[in-house]
Amino acid sequence: MMNWIESTKEKMLSLKLPTDPRWVNIAEMNIEDILVDHAYCEQKAASSCISMIVLFNEFEKLVDELTPVVAEEWGHFERVLEQLKKRGFKLGKARKDEYVIRLKDFVKKGGNRIQQVTELLMMNALIEARSCERFKLLSKNIQDEELKAFYYELMVSEAGHYVNFLELARYYGEPEKVEKRWKEWLQYEAEVIKGLEIRGDRMH
Ligand SMILES: [Fe+2]
Ligand SMILES: [Fe+2]
Repeated sequence: MMNWIESTKEKMLSLKLPTDPRWVNIAEMNIEDILVDHAYCEQKAASSCISMIVLFNEFEKLVDELTPVVAEEWGHFERVLEQLKKRGFKLGKARKDEYVIRLKDFVKKGGNRIQQVTELLMMNALIEARSCERFKLLSKNIQDEELKAFYYELMVSEAGHYVNFLELARYYGEPEKVEKRWKEWLQYEAEVIKGLEIRGDRMH
């Protein structure tokens, strides 16, 4: 039997396209920009969970499961802020998030409440999966020991969120429909990644 972390890593492999290996080296050279962008990724993760809770308040299991995730994401924000300060960097302005903008374009408009909620859950699952993959690259490849440990810890946490979102989609949606749509999402996400330039000032 695989333990939880191993089985989660196994599921992570569902991403269709691995990050270009050059990214992590560029990211390491631009760690201030990466930390700033990362802080806002955590803020957006918390905000997005809050929005889902407000928008889909009738889905009780979703409300119960996403409420603690808001606190975790905000905790991550706080800790990234701490890492910035420690290095004498400032939070600075939020950057345009091309990756998330493109994923949002793929969300099907309309449909019933179940279709709407499963779309957003799958989109969020993908963002978690990709973040997890990037955190893993950082934890494995950068020199800074403190950040290595930090990114390892966050990798595990985001993998848990990935599972939360995907399991909620499977809980609310019809299994065959969710599986079919999830494959489309994975394919689309790979195309988005392929189309984005590799830059050292973005987490995605
Ligand atoms: Fe997070
Ligand atoms: Fe997360």
